[in-house]
Amino acid sequence: MQFSIETSGLLTSHTATSHTETELRPNARRRSVGTQVRTDCAIIPVFAGRRLGASGSALDALLDGALTAALDRGDLADAANSVLLIPGNLAIQRVVLVATVAMADHHGSAATKGKPKRKSLAADAVEDNSHDSAAITERGFQEVCKAAFRAACGTGAQSVLSFLAEVAVGPHAARAIEWNVQIQVTNVRDLVYRFDRLRSKREERREPGSIAIAVTPADATAAKESLRCSIAIADGVALARDLGNLPGNFCTPSVLADEAKALAKKSGLKVQILDRKQMEALRMGSFLAVAQGSDEPPKLIVLEWRGGEKGAAPIALVGKGVTFDSGGISLKPGEAMDEMKYDMSGASAVLGTMSAAAAMELPLNIVAVIPATENMPSGRAIKPGDIVTSMSGQTIEILNTDAEGRLILCDALTYVARFEPSTVIDLATLTGACVIALGHHHSGLFSKDDALAQDLLRAGQDTLDTCWRMPLDDEYQEQLKSPFADMANIGGRPGGAITAACFLARFAKGYAWAHLDIAGTAWKSGAAKGSTGRPVPMLTRFLIDRAQAQVEPAPTDAKGKKPQPKKRASRAAE
Ligand code: BES
Ligand code: MN
Ligand code: ZN
Repeated sequence: MQFSIETSGLLTSHTATSHTETELRPNARRRSVGTQVRTDCAIIPVFAGRRLGASGSALDALLDGALTAALDRGDLADAANSVLLIPGNLAIQRVVLVATVAMADHHGSAATKGKPKRKSLAADAVEDNSHDSAAITERGFQEVCKAAFRAACGTGAQSVLSFLAEVAVGPHAARAIEWNVQIQVTNVRDLVYRFDRLRSKREERREPGSIAIAVTPADATAAKESLRCSIAIADGVALARDLGNLPGNFCTPSVLADEAKALAKKSGLKVQILDRKQMEALRMGSFLAVAQGSDEPPKLIVLEWRGGEKGAAPIALVGKGVTFDSGGISLKPGEAMDEMKYDMSGASAVLGTMSAAAAMELPLNIVAVIPATENMPSGRAIKPGDIVTSMSGQTIEILNTDAEGRLILCDALTYVARFEPSTVIDLATLTGACVIALGHHHSGLFSKDDALAQDLLRAGQDTLDTCWRMPLDDEYQEQLKSPFADMANIGGRPGGAITAACFLARFAKGYAWAHLDIAGTAWKSGAAKGSTGRPVPMLTRFLIDRAQAQVEPAPTDAKGKKPQPKKRASRAAE
């Protein structure tokens, strides 16, 4: 699927006239605007009170008033996100109208007459408050995108031309064109994503080959730059989803390591795979304890993107890579146990984020560390009551072998210190308790570093891939006391997601650290079962912001404009 930014469309102030077309048809003068527009399917936003914007009005003229006629008849349902497919002509073959708000919405009153305009994002552009109230919410815009593209992609159209950049979004209509493009691109890609490689016959794919996003000439440069990043993010999400969906008999630790090698080759990353012997030499007693019950050899995957200054401290990402979590001797119940193939979603999100960072050639140094293993019961498996020594030297009494994520992450967190990172973020499908606490909307965020936490929260809001901050007070450490070892690996049921984070905190020393519990967000259950690729969008945005912050250290941008990373001149040698 190809994406492009289109400026020759109906959002242009001066549009050329196609004489061949005007000569052929009556009503020629009305057709003079935008007659060069060609698409199998145009997506046109409809605003409160069934009003069309600039794109809709121009298109309506081209189509002899077909759009206004349909709207006047009431063919577009009242509810927000309703869609209506209208046949067009030879040049514009179809039109999908999409309701950006409830059509009978109060915004349609005389006070807010007319289409809300997306602000040019100069701070001083916010002069007219009546327009601001007409802007829709970020989540609202996401739903509009999904509904419109679902309708357009299902028609059999080969090309789609979206005019959704015309929609004003956010408080004070502050969401910039970059944001608008990113939400469109990532949502289309999520929509057309399929995982059918393990079916004997592939499903029929009915999706357009090209998607163009219309913007004004003034927005073109920013939109194109955003498109580049958005595609990198969407590719990263797709990689994470593919690996997540791959079942345990395909996605073993060795296969994960091979995927990392392939990614490194493709993206210019440095890669190193440590095997059991090397991990023994490092005295990773906790990680190896989990791995000892499995016939699949464990791997410690290390990737490096060196896009920043030589010697600049890297940002490190650590991802839980349990390719199947049976629970071990503390065996899980059978119900939905298949979903434990997703227990490497932290790892796959790290790989997806590294892929995006490299594709954008971010001017940062980034290190990824992925402990990969299965958690299986066997004659060699760890038993409740076993005590192991972690790489840090701290001893752990394993009271429940199903709390294995923290046992592999603790050694990875100790290992990563050798890269002298400024910041470490770990991602893990760590606890069912986090799902109970937050459900499936927010990832759990744990950090004692307020600045880091704020940056991650913000990156989540900006990508609609949100996290919610949870406590990490030392009081909870009490629950991890063991009568026989330095700590136990579980802290009981109260605050289970918090005590898991507290366990990790004992190993995350010498750098700013945040932990993301993605147990509720990394995949969906039920009818739409599958990996989501979260939190690749949030993490990538976090990295882009960090890259930008070092270019222009002023943290507050009065224009509310989301900066995009600069392209580096040369690619780091290997
Ligand atoms: N991978 C699971 C966490 C999980 C459970 C994610 C359900 C998504 C859905 C993790 O390894 C685990 O089993 N955690 C235990 C910890 C407990 C034994 C303290 C849990 O959450 O039950
Ligand atoms: Mn487990
Ligand atoms: Zn697990």
